[in-house]
Amino acid sequence: MVMVLEKITKSFPGVRALSDASITLAKGEIHALMGENGAGKSTLIKIITGVHKQDAGSMMLDGQEISLAGPREAIRLGITAVHQERNLIPRFSVAENILLEQLPTRNGLVDFARANAEARVHLKKIGLDIDPATEVRHLSVAQMQMVEIAKALSHEAKVLLLDEPTASLTGDETETLFKLVRQLKEHGTAILFVSHKLEEVLSLCDRVTVLRDGETTLKGEPMAGMTRHTLIEAMIGRAERLAPARSGRPDAGQPKMEVRDLSTSAGHRNIGFKLNRGEILGLYGLVGAGRTELARALLGKDKITGGDILIDGKPARIRSVEDAIKRHRIGYVSEDRKYEGVILAHPIRSNIAVTIWSRIANRLGLLGAKDETEAALPLSKQLEIRAPSLEQLVGNLSGGNQQKVSLAKWLAANVDILIVDEPTVGIDIKAKAYIHELINDLADKGMSILLISSDMPEMVALADRILVMHEFAIRFEYHNDRRYENASRAIMSAIHAGKEPVAAE
Ligand SMILES: Nc1ncnc2c1ncn2[C@@H]1O[C@H](COP(=O)(O)OP(=O)(O)OP(=O)(O)O)[C@@H](O)[C@H]1O
Ligand SMILES: [Mg+2]
Repeated sequence: MVMVLEKITKSFPGVRALSDASITLAKGEIHALMGENGAGKSTLIKIITGVHKQDAGSMMLDGQEISLAGPREAIRLGITAVHQERNLIPRFSVAENILLEQLPTRNGLVDFARANAEARVHLKKIGLDIDPATEVRHLSVAQMQMVEIAKALSHEAKVLLLDEPTASLTGDETETLFKLVRQLKEHGTAILFVSHKLEEVLSLCDRVTVLRDGETTLKGEPMAGMTRHTLIEAMIGRAERLAPARSGRPDAGQPKMEVRDLSTSAGHRNIGFKLNRGEILGLYGLVGAGRTELARALLGKDKITGGDILIDGKPARIRSVEDAIKRHRIGYVSEDRKYEGVILAHPIRSNIAVTIWSRIANRLGLLGAKDETEAALPLSKQLEIRAPSLEQLVGNLSGGNQQKVSLAKWLAANVDILIVDEPTVGIDIKAKAYIHELINDLADKGMSILLISSDMPEMVALADRILVMHEFAIRFEYHNDRRYENASRAIMSAIHAGKEPVAAE
């Protein structure tokens, strides 16, 4: 075994993140680490990479007990990681970020030409076609994730830890990554892989360890012969429950929102669609198809250069996100939750209550912690946000629990139109079913929902109609019969069809 961790315990104030957790990593294997949001996966990875120090338990590398002084020492020993939270520096270029600890210099200065050339090699490996001189802040979330992966792969690693590396990636990018991971495995790297996407884990990994509440419930079992059912039971302690299909139907009357012949500075052309009351309209497409950018334009964040947006049949000018919420009652759950979704330095309570501030404040004239708690508590219970209390700072929550907070805030907001971008990325299987149910409920109550998701099963389960975007245009409209095979075949062939766009109805 390359790495052996035994009986690792780690506590944070008010939380025991790991208790007696154990895992072994062999040379040339891909080992899955699974568990619900808050189970302790990232904490374990942070201990292996020297970010945190365990309270008790031992860690061995190549048969030697080690105690890491910090992340740099881990890298020196051949341990590298793609962490779940993004660690890129937004104002640095892609090349600077990839080569951060190893930038080439000439006469004491950074040699940018060489850095860009080296970075290009790493980018090419993962099939990412971007200019290494681009500042990271201009990239999409998926591109940032790919850059993080390129960065980790730029080190010759003995142990590679991947904490939800595919969270924001769609099929094609994921396949490229898996090919690379399999190559590294052939070369003898020990790989630890964290993902909430069960199908991925089943197809990629050789062994699996499952954590539940910080304890090991499956310990390095072979993946062959493992069923979805066994894995889920190990994770949540009971069988899976699927969200029931929704009962309501979209209203066929006056559309809630209509977009006509819209073009934007981001590059959209001739975008047209209707969003009905009580409808869940899906927007599907590969990374870079222009879905998030379309949401941004609808919210007044990107410039509209032509066409119209109508709300309740009347032309609407939406100038900003604030304008969208206050005047048009449009909410937006951003894909970029780290920067836009939640305020990490504030407690869960005020994060969830933030969108209802004006409502509560109007009623009472002022706003106290008690009102916020009252508003936030039911949702945090329903989504099982795992924290010692609502006073916990969001920055201290596990990745998935941060996602739940940013969603809960919008579910509490009571808007007419809700744009949700990748609602269940990084969310465990149990909470995912709750979120699907909540989205269905909101639509049943008459809310109009524009759902952006790269998760095909999610799209097929939730959407009434699916618009397929490709290269900033709508290529195809699918009336969803909720039969997965039909839907995925029609959608994928629309994306991969020739260059001629297929007109939407
Ligand atoms: N710095 C911290 N301060 C306080 N509590 C923390 C801190 N880091 C993690 N925790 C807590 O430790 C527990 C385990 O968190 P961890 O991030 O390891 O979960 P995870 O399994 O990675 O979940 P997810 O699937 O949501 O990413 C959670 O309850 C979390 O809130
Ligand atoms: Mg995590």
